[in-house]
Amino acid sequence: MRTNIIDVPENLNSEIELCGWIDVRRDHGKLIFFDMRDRSGKVQLVVPPSDKVVHEIASILRPEWVVKIKGTVNPRPEAMKNPKEGPAGGIEVKVSSIEIISEAKTPPFEVGTDGYEVGEDVRMKYRYVDIRRARMMNNLAKRSQVTKFIRDFLIEKSFIEVETPSLSKSTPEGARDYLVPSRVEPGKFYALPQSPQQYKQLLMVGGIERYFQIARCFRDEDTRGDRQPEFTQLDLEISFIEAEDVIALNEELLIKIVEALYPEKKIQEKPFPRLTYKEAVEKYQTDRPDLRKDKNDKNLLAFCWVVDFPFFELADSSTSSGQEAWTFTHNPFSAPKPEHMDWLMKKEKIPEILATQYDIVLNGCEIGGGSIRNHKPEALKKVFEIMGFSEERILKNFGHMLDALSYGAPSHGGIAWGFDRLMMLLQNEPNIREVIAFPKTGEGHDLMMNAPSKVKKAQLKELHLSAEELH
Ligand code: AMO
Repeated sequence: MRTNIIDVPENLNSEIELCGWIDVRRDHGKLIFFDMRDRSGKVQLVVPPSDKVVHEIASILRPEWVVKIKGTVNPRPEAMKNPKEGPAGGIEVKVSSIEIISEAKTPPFEVGTDGYEVGEDVRMKYRYVDIRRARMMNNLAKRSQVTKFIRDFLIEKSFIEVETPSLSKSTPEGARDYLVPSRVEPGKFYALPQSPQQYKQLLMVGGIERYFQIARCFRDEDTRGDRQPEFTQLDLEISFIEAEDVIALNEELLIKIVEALYPEKKIQEKPFPRLTYKEAVEKYQTDRPDLRKDKNDKNLLAFCWVVDFPFFELADSSTSSGQEAWTFTHNPFSAPKPEHMDWLMKKEKIPEILATQYDIVLNGCEIGGGSIRNHKPEALKKVFEIMGFSEERILKNFGHMLDALSYGAPSHGGIAWGFDRLMMLLQNEPNIREVIAFPKTGEGHDLMMNAPSKVKKAQLKELHLSAEELH
């Protein structure tokens, strides 16, 4: 049975079997030393010249070859002990057999370093090698632990995890949609969801009451350090709830994640401070202020909530057309603050209407946002009217939502976290690509799979598309 490398020191004087990658090899005269690595750690192996067969195999091993070895765990000679390596620094494995599972080409870069020194394009192209480095391994493992913590926490509080579709309908929600052509219906398209916003509200109408999902979202916008074309949200929605309760629940979850999984980190202020949008912009010139008192401290977490956002802002088209045209600042499905519902219904004082929106900001980065929703169809319709949508367009784009809300909708609200962004900050990484196994480059490329890529003409034809000039 295979032993994980981290457990090797516990097996002093025993015969063990290890599987993993060759890390480095050092020949000391006739003795061959090499470090072997698996997911759990590294250990030093030694091959004496006495066993000719094993010695011969060991002499051809190269970094990143995959091997299975058998050997005995021995204490290292006193002079060779290395306390810096922890318990593994006091032992070595004397190898009695080596089986080569796979040979490997010369790796494109070293995996023994943290990798920041390697060009990103080459790391992306050979991501499967890059993931072997301890930093990447740790980022992905920590991400999995935080996901599990969230799941356990929410399920304990009676939330139901529900999956919603990826093939959905194009609706104006802020960013550009990724479209998927329908083969069966020429000229028609699905859209990949920019978020599960509408589905989660429909689940509330469906009586689910407490929903969450670790959801993949798709937005065709320019990629940046904290933006990917596909990214992950912790998405949740609750029926019969007030903004205060959503805020309290999320605050509790964030604090517990830090306490349980990042005990070395300090939360600057609890409960998290709150600012209105107006205060934030006046005092910090941004709606996502970095409130850290010491910006050099990598373990300081300054959370804050930003509330009272204006519901509408003038759309870009206002300047070009000379006519006032409004668009939503965050989410067309939000309810206005209760004291402003009257203005919404009368379509007056539009720039003064405040939304029930709340954003959660960490160290100057927007890590989430949500609101209480307009559960009355006539109020939701007013939002679209203010945005200048015709009756026909409202029905075409949002008829299903207005219809659903007229079949007995509970009051409801929720939030979505940018999960990659949270993980980036918790792991002290400079961008979200470091906490995503297979991210896209700045230009939206997957350099490893070579996507996007051309497809066969026959495939286009089947989908009733033509891109012939590009072929
Ligand atoms: P919003 O659009 O604010 O709200 O998204 C929620 C959070 O998702 C993160 N985020 C991103 N992360 C990485 N790459 C991107 N391209 C990207 N875009 C957004 C941000 C953001 O705060 N349905 C609503 C939520 C709700 O009201 O419940 C929504 O999606 O951290």
